[in-house]
Amino acid sequence: MSTVTRLVDDRSEQASPAPEEKLYQFNESPLLARQSRQESNARSYPRRLPLALKRAGGIHVEDVEGRRFIDCLAGAGTLALGHNHPVVIEAIKQVLADELPLLTLDLTTPVKDQFVQDLFGLLPAALSSEAKIQFCGPTGTDAVEAALKLVRTATGRSTVLSFQGAYHGMSQGALSLMGSLGPKRPLGALLSSGVQFLPYPYDYRCPFGLGGEAGVKANLHYLESLLNDPEAGVQLPAAIILEAVQGEGGVIPADVEWLRGVRRITEKAGVPLIVDEIQSGFGRTGKMFAFEHAAIIPDVVVMSKAIGGSLPMAVVVYRDWLDTWQPGAHAGTFRGNQMAMATGSAVMRYLKEHNVADHAAAMGQRLSEHLRILQRDFPQMGDIRGRGLMLGVELVDPQGEKDALGHPPPFARLAPLVQRECLKRGLILEMGGRHGSVVRFLPPLVITAAQIDEVAQIFSRAFAAAVASL
Ligand SMILES: Cc1ncc(COP(=O)(O)O)c(C=O)c1O
Repeated sequence: MSTVTRLVDDRSEQASPAPEEKLYQFNESPLLARQSRQESNARSYPRRLPLALKRAGGIHVEDVEGRRFIDCLAGAGTLALGHNHPVVIEAIKQVLADELPLLTLDLTTPVKDQFVQDLFGLLPAALSSEAKIQFCGPTGTDAVEAALKLVRTATGRSTVLSFQGAYHGMSQGALSLMGSLGPKRPLGALLSSGVQFLPYPYDYRCPFGLGGEAGVKANLHYLESLLNDPEAGVQLPAAIILEAVQGEGGVIPADVEWLRGVRRITEKAGVPLIVDEIQSGFGRTGKMFAFEHAAIIPDVVVMSKAIGGSLPMAVVVYRDWLDTWQPGAHAGTFRGNQMAMATGSAVMRYLKEHNVADHAAAMGQRLSEHLRILQRDFPQMGDIRGRGLMLGVELVDPQGEKDALGHPPPFARLAPLVQRECLKRGLILEMGGRHGSVVRFLPPLVITAAQIDEVAQIFSRAFAAAVASL
């Protein structure tokens, strides 16, 4: 990639912070103090990102103290076009100028009709030609809930297969599909008796201890035998639900042959395949939808985040043979947010007209290249992975005992140090993955090459500082 300015290849830059570097300090401000006094103990981001934000534009946010940050969290991957993109602002102004009803339950309007046409225009023809759409309450979680009800009603079956490391939301049905036990443990009984967990093709930590093609083959073989062995102890499920790239689970892209295999096996067994594109959809992974990397057609696709063009919106799109549920089977007051439909349409049109998915693929490759160069100096950067601009680095402890595949253990202590050193240098990053040991990059998809280089440069200095502080 000759166009990459190899910023991080300068070893002297990595060895120590640049002398002129000004670091932000984070003393508790009155706003943050009041937030921690008044808001719930369940609040999460402010604990690691102690920011009170004032304004935003593009890839930047500014806090009340006038400090500027590059936002590689972007509303947990929601802001495809960054903050306050002109097409989004224009769409909002237009809704107000037209005096549209802002909330219409599930009644139709020209804005809603346009939204559906724009969305169906982004889907592969094999899906859009037989697609139905259900508007949901405005969170991704609610779309997952709707998808569960849809497939259970259509198949007459009740159980669901989900994957280790899966994240599908926080309501109790969606939570029962989650791999992580942390949020489930205090609740006691969920629907988990109806959910069976399967191994995800996590190549770096292959659950079969094999990795590569052998790991994928073993994984598919296991699924096939589970669904076809009359004594597997597992009922034929109402669906299998998966993320084509696990986000919260640690930015783990599923092998495309595995995705194709799952599609083949589920089709043969008559099990609907639900693909959760809430985080990975709308260009994030370098394709409009992450399942397109494998050229498969799911039966159900759940979408949220970027689909609302910065505002809350969630839908389920599914093949019409599943449309057997009854009127009112899934409802919710806030299914008719016209503003979000207008901004969603504007963003979808922009993504298509400007080939933003291709740009995201190129920018993701550029960032990966930077990270791989940095990895030469830092054995703590165990695995760099992802697709497009959904990237992560699994941090490992090089001194720790290696696993069956020869990989050192996760380095949970290092990840928050890296995140904090980045923040001090004006870069907001996310964390996730098993043991919280993955640092994640989810920047707006319109980030430029020069901005990617800047992110890489800040990250390299922050990483060096974090390692030095161990
Ligand atoms: C893959 C996936 N599914 C579901 C959800 C839940 O969406 P929400 O937080 O809007 O309920 C998320 C949120 O991060 C997600 O990443």
